Amino acid sequence: MLSERMQKALNGQVNAELYSSYLYLSMNAYFKSVNLDGFANWMNSQAQEELMHAMKFYEFINQRGGRSLLAAIETPPAQWDSPLAVFEDTLKHEQKVTGLINGLVEIAMEERDHATQIFLQWFVTEQVEEEESVGNVLEQLKLLGDAKQGLFMMDRELATRQAPDMSVESE
Ligand code: FEO
Repeated sequence: MLSERMQKALNGQVNAELYSSYLYLSMNAYFKSVNLDGFANWMNSQAQEELMHAMKFYEFINQRGGRSLLAAIETPPAQWDSPLAVFEDTLKHEQKVTGLINGLVEIAMEERDHATQIFLQWFVTEQVEEEESVGNVLEQLKLLGDAKQGLFMMDRELATRQAPDMSVESE
């Protein structure tokens, strides 16, 4: 059984993950609007992964006999100055999420909730991977500067990212 404090924190994370999905979907829309379909594809995959994260938390709360309480999702920004600005925001956002996950781990430790601690380990590892993959795209964009040709090539590369297989990942 989840403690009230743990349940509230996990419900907060469902909302944070749904907001992440919303944010990346908004970034997808931005990239589509400037005809960078590869970047848009990358953000679409990212948005779907976040949805999967939200569902992992949602299902875990229910599995532990808790009560899922859904709250309003904040409106994400809709406009950016450049692809670089989008990925700077993405990295900042992922660093913020890492902080949230670490906060959940601390609560689970204080509540002596070992099952939640074990559940959260997947997310601790996932955040390392997310920050790395976003950081890699950001570094490439910084190297490109204003080179349009390079941006076009990156767009083609990012078009190859596959959306997660929800049926497998959510198990
Ligand atoms: Fe669900 Fe990108 O962290």
